[in-house]
Amino acid sequence: AFEVLAAKSGVRVHVGPDDTIAGALGKAGVKVTLSCEQGICGTCVVNVLEGEPDHRDEYLTEDEQTDQIALCCSRSHSPLLVVDI
Ligand code: FES
Repeated sequence: AFEVLAAKSGVRVHVGPDDTIAGALGKAGVKVTLSCEQGICGTCVVNVLEGEPDHRDEYLTEDEQTDQIALCCSRSHSPLLVVDI
């Protein structure tokens, strides 16, 4: 488990093993725009401001992965991930 801080929204959520980042944020009132929810389309991609994402999508290139994350399915290696949403 890890925590995600949605920097623009000022909301911090706990993401458990059965939760997704998008799901946890959604429950806390931060709307993440989703489409495929399988890491394919890129609709849910946002910038990462801090932390080390655990990428699970098939959409981002290796280059893009350095500062972006697909919120529908990717997770975090660091205890806290700060995203620009
Ligand atoms: Fe399609 Fe996340 S909703 S990649």
